Amino acid sequence: MSASVSGATLQLPQHEVMSQFAQHNGQLLVGGFSLSAISRMLGKAVFYAYDRNIITQQVQRFRHAVPARIKLHYAVKANPYWPVVQHLKLLVDGFDVASQKEMLLAVQSGMPVQHISFAGPGKTDTELSAAIALGVTLNVESLSELARICRLGQECDVTPQVALRVNPAFELKASGMKMAGGAKPFGIDEEQVFTVLADIAAMPLRLRGFHIFCGSQNLKADALTEAHQHTFALAAKLVAACPYRPDLINLGGGFGIPYFAGEKRLDPAPVGQSLAALLQQYHDDFNGIELVIELGRFLVAEAGIYACQVVDKKVSRGTTYLVCNGGLHHHLANSGNFGQVIRKNYPVAIGNRLNSGQQEQVTIVGPLCTPLDILADKVMLPKADVGDWVVVYQSGAYGPTASPQDFLGHAPVSELLL
Ligand SMILES: Cc1ncc(COP(=O)(O)O)c(C=O)c1O
Repeated sequence: MSASVSGATLQLPQHEVMSQFAQHNGQLLVGGFSLSAISRMLGKAVFYAYDRNIITQQVQRFRHAVPARIKLHYAVKANPYWPVVQHLKLLVDGFDVASQKEMLLAVQSGMPVQHISFAGPGKTDTELSAAIALGVTLNVESLSELARICRLGQECDVTPQVALRVNPAFELKASGMKMAGGAKPFGIDEEQVFTVLADIAAMPLRLRGFHIFCGSQNLKADALTEAHQHTFALAAKLVAACPYRPDLINLGGGFGIPYFAGEKRLDPAPVGQSLAALLQQYHDDFNGIELVIELGRFLVAEAGIYACQVVDKKVSRGTTYLVCNGGLHHHLANSGNFGQVIRKNYPVAIGNRLNSGQQEQVTIVGPLCTPLDILADKVMLPKADVGDWVVVYQSGAYGPTASPQDFLGHAPVSELLL
């Protein structure tokens, strides 16, 4: 495996996660099947494939490290592919959803509604009414949303189940995406929330508790631990200020996965140890209250690959290009256009030539007429040709549904869980 930094090509050690996928005679296997076999099953030459055993292992990694007292919820937005949702239904304790569509997926998976929460700014009256009618917990993002929930609950004649999402004064350091601290569209500012609590008993709703989500894609155990210390302290103050005992505290998420050269896998063990200590310290404050961590990519990203085929190979002024039938329109994040400041390569491979000795430096691009459509820039890979399989690892989260599939009108990508 290799990656380019400032134009230079560096040899990198084998990515830890890549070794989770088996291989046979140089062919990458997903769930025991080669890429050409999966292609024949789907009748498609470009697809995402997810390995259910790796998803299960990731859940086990969390469970092994984190005390059982803390429940695990899956953030459906990371991968809402129905077979993935159904598989996770059997493994996790609840779902977090971000739209009506995701909420209906979660409900139809058979997950009990009291274990489904709906977060996100800008929820429409239609979405709020649907959640109220179902009894799904609404994570409230603003004071005006709270007022609308009260009104809609009265209109439906159903008591809304709500958790106040708090935008704390602290932040989750070293996060790919910071979602708390400072001015944010998410949640009610910590300074305001205590005033709301003073009035909450008179409101036509059931306050289940609080949602304190600080950020995502964090690989630093220290940063997560520090955020948990602040989160427990804040949650204890919030519980004490409640006019009645809440039953739910969502401690957020943020567990990341390594995407780029030099990044190390997060070790959840020290995070779990620190959580165990916090549980002891705050035992009385949270007695009888359900504590939840919600994770998306940590559970699914490493279980997925994106595979496309080389349709053309050309040399332009010294650069060898592999031109593929898939790219940015299927996998925006890999192209570097989903939150990266400076584009870096995801780990890639030639999926049918894993053991091939002869290497060359290539730039891999997709079929779109834009210089943004890059699958991998200046990487050393086994020599490949038309018909070979380009594989992008770490692709099980924020894939098809986070990509502009209609852009330029190419065919949509297929998915398969094996
Ligand atoms: C409220 C909330 N929960 C969960 C997630 C999932 O994050 P990740 O996939 O990084 O675990 C996000 C991501 O944006 C989020 O906003």
